[in-house]
Amino acid sequence: MKIFLDTANLEAIKKYNDMGLVDGVTTNPTLLSKEKGNPAEIMRQITKIVKGPVSLEVVGTSTEEMLDEAHRLKKYGQNVVVKIPMTADGLKAVKKLKQDGIETNVTLIFSANQATLAAKAGASYVSPFIGRLDDAGQDGMSLIREIVQIFRNYQFSAKVLVASVRHPLHVVDAGKIGADVVTLPPDILGKMILHPLTDKGLTAFLNDWEKVKKENPNLSI
Ligand code: E4P
Repeated sequence: MKIFLDTANLEAIKKYNDMGLVDGVTTNPTLLSKEKGNPAEIMRQITKIVKGPVSLEVVGTSTEEMLDEAHRLKKYGQNVVVKIPMTADGLKAVKKLKQDGIETNVTLIFSANQATLAAKAGASYVSPFIGRLDDAGQDGMSLIREIVQIFRNYQFSAKVLVASVRHPLHVVDAGKIGADVVTLPPDILGKMILHPLTDKGLTAFLNDWEKVKKENPNLSI
């Protein structure tokens, strides 16, 4: 399973990229609105920091606007994947962009049928938003199960990118189902590194080593 970071925060991207944990990045207008600085410049920087796919979202709503923006965004970096909303105009743009050799990530997917249509239109990634479904009283992870099963049944090449992830257990469940990618807010990736028994175990090892050093003053490793 690939791990993408769901953020436009350059510091967080650099931090986790330096640990080798970032296979790609997803952004959206809301995430960019939280950062200081020129959004276009931030997007360009992200494509340089990260080797893997970087999803940059269009804001136009007609097919024509989306196509114009997509071609401009693609110039930000070779690894740009254009994020297109799950609308009729969006699907038309996805088909055309595939013909133009531009990869797309269809966003705001809330049903298995929407995911199927996005895959058929030619999307490289489909992004079901599981946290927002959970918030609305539906089981977001069931949607991932359905989409993964349908895509396997028909060998669709589109990758299932689990979005709107809210906690580390979502990541475990997505992995068990066999989703291709999870995109994570940086704080969730941070939580995945930690376990209280790791901290407790390390403290005990270091304390015991202090005792060994007292008995062997010239010891070095
Ligand atoms: C996905 O690509 C979106 O950027 C994101 O996961 C949305 O998550 P949210 O529901 O936390 O806004």
